[in-house]
Amino acid sequence: MKNILVTGAKGQLGSSIQELVKGLGLYQFVFTDSETLDITNEKDISNFFKETNFDYCINCAAYTAVDRAEIETELCYKSNAEAVQILAKTCAKHSCILIHISTDFIFDGKKNEPYIETDQPNPLNVYGLSKLKGENYVKEYLDSYFIVRTSWVYSEYGNNFVKTILKLGEQMERLNVISDQYGSPTYAKDLAEFIIALVHKDSKDFGIYHFSNRGNISWYDFAKAIIELSNINTTILPIASKDYKAKALRPKNSVINTDKAQNFLEKPVKNWKQSLAKCIEKL
Ligand SMILES: NC(=O)c1ccc[n+]([C@@H]2O[C@H](COP(=O)([O-])OP(=O)(O)OC[C@H]3O[C@@H](n4cnc5c(N)ncnc54)[C@H](OP(=O)(O)O)[C@@H]3O)[C@@H](O)[C@H]2O)c1
Repeated sequence: MKNILVTGAKGQLGSSIQELVKGLGLYQFVFTDSETLDITNEKDISNFFKETNFDYCINCAAYTAVDRAEIETELCYKSNAEAVQILAKTCAKHSCILIHISTDFIFDGKKNEPYIETDQPNPLNVYGLSKLKGENYVKEYLDSYFIVRTSWVYSEYGNNFVKTILKLGEQMERLNVISDQYGSPTYAKDLAEFIIALVHKDSKDFGIYHFSNRGNISWYDFAKAIIELSNINTTILPIASKDYKAKALRPKNSVINTDKAQNFLEKPVKNWKQSLAKCIEKL
């Protein structure tokens, strides 16, 4: 039976993987969180790998506060870059396949089409820069790796855009939401399924994959759909990025092309609205 280490297992993606594999009994999972395994701690990582022969390490741990990262720069780099270097080195030493999660925010958003895996990264903010550095460490130390870039992740767990809009929608008559940034929402459960498929198929087609739900929408479109699907009585108003005072710059277009992932899965990924409806049903 394959041994799989999951880091950051209390986050959105980690929790979704836990939920997905509950009771499956196919693999031996070791789920860790920031308290039981701090990925910035080289000694703890080393001890974990000494105790168990892991076939896969799924790294769901990350510093994900995009605006705060502009201030907590050091901590962001420590978690998203230096810790990934430790994980990559350790996986190389123990012949463990690393499945590392990255982001659409490594792109600058200037492309007019969805980004493919080979497009040139050019991050606009500290978070994106730190995640790109993490990707580069994975590529430097390992041949057997998957880097899965995803975007606009939401779920029934933790904090995310869907839960924020639902909460604010209950409290306020009007909400201003950015209408000039485009992306593809990703339901963490669908992403979890893709990641487990990589393991399940025992794929050796290593490299970078883009995974999100299908579709190309703005935050404004996303917020409107959330409100519609949950029958909340609030008005969503469009606002330009320049009028919304966020600390971090964000790409105008961070839609990712998921053809490679769909070819791998041999089926289309779910449309964003279909998955959003599923999540709202659960919430
Ligand atoms: N959320 C998005 O919209 C989005 C978009 C694109 C890509 N991604 C990427 O997708 C992956 C999963 O994101 P997510 O939404 O599931 O993130 P999340 O909900 O913020 O979860 C991240 C988890 O990592 C843990 N963590 C942070 N630093 C750690 C450390 N040093 N050691 C161990 N655990 C640590 C956090 O624990 P604590 O809370 O205890 O610190 C948290 O449980 C990340 O790589 C992220 O960069 C996310």
